[in-house]
Amino acid sequence: MNEKPLKLKDLRQNLAPYLYVWPKSPLTSSPVWREDPESRMLVRDMPEEDAAVAADDQWPALFPFPSSLVTTTDGERTGLEINVGASIVNRFPYVISLSLCKQNLSERYQNTRTFMEILERGGAVSIQLLPPGAELDRALQVIQSTPETETSNRIAQTGLAVRQAKTNPSAVFQAAYLVFEARLVKPGKDFSGHPIYPQPWVDAGSHRTYLLEINAIQLRQDIAIGKNQILWRNSPGWHPNLEWEQTVFPGNDAIMKKLAYNKIYTPDYVFPSANTIAFESDAVEDGMAIKYLAPLPEDQVEVDNDRARWPSFFPSPMGLITTWVADGVPNLMPCGSTTIISRHPMIVVCCVASSAINERYTARATLEVIRRTKRFGCGIPFVHNAITTAIKYTGNVSHGLDPEKVKNSGLVVMSNEWSPILRALPVHFDCEVIDETPLGTHSMFMGEVRKIWARPDVTPEDPLEWSPWADLAF
Ligand SMILES: Cc1cc2nc3c(=O)[nH]c(=O)nc-3n(C[C@H](O)[C@H](O)[C@H](O)COP(=O)(O)O)c2cc1C
Repeated sequence: MNEKPLKLKDLRQNLAPYLYVWPKSPLTSSPVWREDPESRMLVRDMPEEDAAVAADDQWPALFPFPSSLVTTTDGERTGLEINVGASIVNRFPYVISLSLCKQNLSERYQNTRTFMEILERGGAVSIQLLPPGAELDRALQVIQSTPETETSNRIAQTGLAVRQAKTNPSAVFQAAYLVFEARLVKPGKDFSGHPIYPQPWVDAGSHRTYLLEINAIQLRQDIAIGKNQILWRNSPGWHPNLEWEQTVFPGNDAIMKKLAYNKIYTPDYVFPSANTIAFESDAVEDGMAIKYLAPLPEDQVEVDNDRARWPSFFPSPMGLITTWVADGVPNLMPCGSTTIISRHPMIVVCCVASSAINERYTARATLEVIRRTKRFGCGIPFVHNAITTAIKYTGNVSHGLDPEKVKNSGLVVMSNEWSPILRALPVHFDCEVIDETPLGTHSMFMGEVRKIWARPDVTPEDPLEWSPWADLAF
């Protein structure tokens, strides 16, 4: 485990101003973290007290959230917000989740009720990515300095050029290179005829999580045709200082050969590239290639494994979802659709494929285990070759095919009662399932965080380093 991957700021100078590092002070100096004598890991109990969050609303541990700008309108008022943790949660229909705070948690962490009211009246949003630089900084500065109740003034105050989205009246920044236009989901039926989406949001903890069906995707034309590329690192960078048990990837060739479909994985995404899907646009306008999505999920379903891939890049983190299948039998499901939907109590969400469409989308072994045990763990990987190899193996081979898949991935498991902890990983959340929401092809499990574990070599001198924004190649 000695490999030293390049720090993101060395790789991408543009991202240096947006980097988030954790921890800022030694965990050992905080009364909430204690050492687990057996494993030497640091551990803290969750949830926090209300007063503790009011006094210090910093995230208790790093989670690799992507950030985006979101606009909305109800025809009279407009809204502009920064959002952390928007996540693609279902494939057919193609649904994105957006969590917004409905409580005042601390002086700094306030509700976004005005924006939520406008969104609920207007019913649609544009979720946008701007390249690092002056225009993004201007938008962020205005959001920070304009009270939420005056969200309607924010777009004008940025002074940035805007135009109207294609499928709803919200504003799109000319500077955006990627735009997801989406509308609150309507009640429908899943592939077995069961009702889904009785309402277009779920209330959990301090936040309301909106479920929005994606109607159109705009991608800057130079990117769509491959003249420019989006660069996204989905796991934190880190230089571990301790040697941890890690076996060399034994894999299982016989099993790999049996796979009808092999999902490619790298923590450093370059989109578009030879390994990614080509962006198939229906039109080119305002310098943007635009793809419209069919309104009915049954018309969207692509049975072909390759065509069933996400039609475009959207930044997602990588959560390593662990479960105990039985006593002493761990399982691991790498999950891109992992996010946090509530700050207090902290709630981790993982979206697990639940219906059989093709080899790519088929019910995961993890689904039954989470339903039965009501527990899962969520480990945060870092950029490292051995971990990438393990994610490729466990993200393609189901427990049903290889009951020893975790061992064969090379990752070593620590026998934590709640959920298997992968020794190599810097951070792990123990989560208790408080709700399951079926979404069509996937089921969304909400896990309230009960404990957070951190390796003792996660320190301010050697912190995890994370950029919530993607960069462009030039
Ligand atoms: C990069 C990557 C991201 C993935 N994201 C998800 C996801 O969000 N939801 C899901 O159900 N499966 C996802 N998978 C697929 C599962 O990890 C894979 O099917 C795994 O083998 C399931 O394990 P199990 O059947 O043992 O539970 C992903 C795989 C990879 C490689």
